[in-house]
Amino acid sequence: MNTILAVKQRYGIIGNSELLSRALEIALRVAPTDLSVLVTGESGVGKEFFPKIIHDHSARKHGKYVAVNCGAIPEGTIDSELFGHEKGAFTGAIDSRKGYFEEADGGTIFLDEVGELPLSTQVRLLRVLQTGEFIRVGSAKVQKTNVRVVAATNNNLQRAIADGRFREDLYYRLNTVPIEVPALRERPEDIYLLFRKFAADVAVQYRMPAITLDAAARDMLERYSWRGNIRQLKNVAEQISAIEQSREITAPILSRYLQQERTSSAPSLSGASSFDDMNTERELLYKVLFDMRTDINEMKMMLQQMRGYGVGHPMSSEPRKELAGLLPQPSVSQEFDYAEEVVDEPTVPHSKADMQREQIVRALRRNGGSRRAAAAELFMSERTLYRRIKELGIEE
Ligand SMILES: Nc1ncnc2c1ncn2[C@@H]1O[C@H](COP(=O)(O)OP(=O)(O)O)[C@@H](O)[C@H]1O
Ligand SMILES: [Mg+2]
Repeated sequence: MNTILAVKQRYGIIGNSELLSRALEIALRVAPTDLSVLVTGESGVGKEFFPKIIHDHSARKHGKYVAVNCGAIPEGTIDSELFGHEKGAFTGAIDSRKGYFEEADGGTIFLDEVGELPLSTQVRLLRVLQTGEFIRVGSAKVQKTNVRVVAATNNNLQRAIADGRFREDLYYRLNTVPIEVPALRERPEDIYLLFRKFAADVAVQYRMPAITLDAAARDMLERYSWRGNIRQLKNVAEQISAIEQSREITAPILSRYLQQERTSSAPSLSGASSFDDMNTERELLYKVLFDMRTDINEMKMMLQQMRGYGVGHPMSSEPRKELAGLLPQPSVSQEFDYAEEVVDEPTVPHSKADMQREQIVRALRRNGGSRRAAAAELFMSERTLYRRIKELGIEE
């Protein structure tokens, strides 16, 4: 049991629920074996911790850990990404290239959103799981690799099998050991803990006081259904932190953030991507606001400092040494107050599309052009981000 606690600490996993501990326990027990593991659970429950934990606690821990989001790779290139290709295998294949299965030889490969794999790729995957053999695209040579596979899926795999979109034999091969990660509503005792953690994280990140909930708000939070699970809870904590001036959150304030979720999320069975889509637009707007606030705070601080230290004020009596990198940070509450006065500055983008474009461009820039990282930051799937980039005509 102590080891479970140590794992939670090491990976920053919050929660005391029995269901979560049981899932972690299975992960630890199966880790030293070479069995395939299938991690299932709704979108946003924290599935991505598990393959890493399994790898780190296996004999392969010094080998490579390769995570692949099967839902983010275009169908046309997925075989080549996974299994590599030979020079000239297709137009544009100027060089040969190793695939992830070759790359991860001796290590672990995490196939996230495995249900998104095209059928033809499923055949190749089944073969490598059964025999350790694969063939690069455009090659005739059979190669060997020694890879442990951990896959993850939301709960749609059964339907995909029924619809003929996912091979049943592959499902059984992947699912040697199932790990079910519980939905947040199945562990209500963790909701408040998680909320406090996320509120504290935002507070540190943006150097402002953490929001707190009064008793009624806490009660409302714990009764909510959380269809987007921990990801959604995190978003809500961040949005409230960003938007609300008051740091003491009451039930009526909280309900504004939860009602929107309720009306916008029609009882959907289709899982991650539709949830993402429905919430993306609103979240983008919040993030734009938040970013503008931060920018404005920074500008205000600069102005203050310039005034305070005599730049443009030759008569100032402030000591000059302060300018040499010793500028004091203004207090947290000061910083937050500045934002309010100037939110209507003319630099505010005009249309919603402008705001979204601005937001995506910023996120890409912040992440050095990495779509994966930008998508994660914007709470959308890479596919959605890709589509938005096209729709909004963003040049990268
Ligand atoms: N128990 C937890 N404690 C802290 N953060 C968590 C926990 N579970 C999930 N998260 C966070 O929630 C977000 C969604 O988790 P993720 O693993 O990406 O979900 P999914 O099941 O959709 O793959 C991530 O930011 C993750 O760090
Ligand atoms: Mg995931």
